[in-house]
Amino acid sequence: MRRSVVAGNWKMHGSSSMIEDLVKALADSVSADACDVIVSPSFPYLPLVQQLAAGTGIGLAGQNCSAHSQGAHTGEVAADMLRDIGCDWVILGHSERRQAGETDQEVAAKAVAARSAGLKPILCVGETLEQRQAGDAVAIVTGQLEALVADLADGDMIAYEPVWAIGTGETATPEQAQEMHGEIRAFLAERQPALAEATRLLYGGSVKADNASALFAEEDIDGGLVGGASLKADDFAAIVRAAS
Ligand code: 13P
Repeated sequence: MRRSVVAGNWKMHGSSSMIEDLVKALADSVSADACDVIVSPSFPYLPLVQQLAAGTGIGLAGQNCSAHSQGAHTGEVAADMLRDIGCDWVILGHSERRQAGETDQEVAAKAVAARSAGLKPILCVGETLEQRQAGDAVAIVTGQLEALVADLADGDMIAYEPVWAIGTGETATPEQAQEMHGEIRAFLAERQPALAEATRLLYGGSVKADNASALFAEEDIDGGLVGGASLKADDFAAIVRAAS
């Protein structure tokens, strides 16, 4: 039985006061008893969230990390640093980073660095609208996984985020999402049989309070990676309840 998980990706949003209000509201409204709950603020706010969320069971994720462990890499953040300030997770390979030029190989190298620092990666994959319309969605997603699967480890999570559903209000239907999650689990069963059943697969892309239950009811959808709706405490709490 895989434990459900809901992760909020706050992307590049917020300020000290906005995040303080949000975390206080989440602390009052979200229960991490029946579901793993993770939030991922921008780097500068990680310590603030860590402090305010202490004792709530809400976990912390970075939104990216360097593939290097330390050194002359101006502007980069090492996986060890994230671990040092209390992160358990790191989101890697988000499509917004891939669109800015991050390659499969870079994502794979970052995942190796994350694991060696004791972080668990949330590995993002997903196709664009053009790729889906061309009938290439499964090939694109399994191609992205190809770079990651050899080093996949116990505790890693995979987030299927179709690019066409991110921030657009257009969600994959539960059937579309389950179809891809089934493909991902079948790919894992072939390439990493020992991990296939236990690896949690999250869906991301316009997950909202009103569509979360139907998505999470699908067999291979173990939770969600939530963008916009994770910035509203009531909506995020409702999504967590749907997964619990
Ligand atoms: P939205 O929920 O805003 O579509 O964002 C999804 C996402 O990119 C989470 O990583």
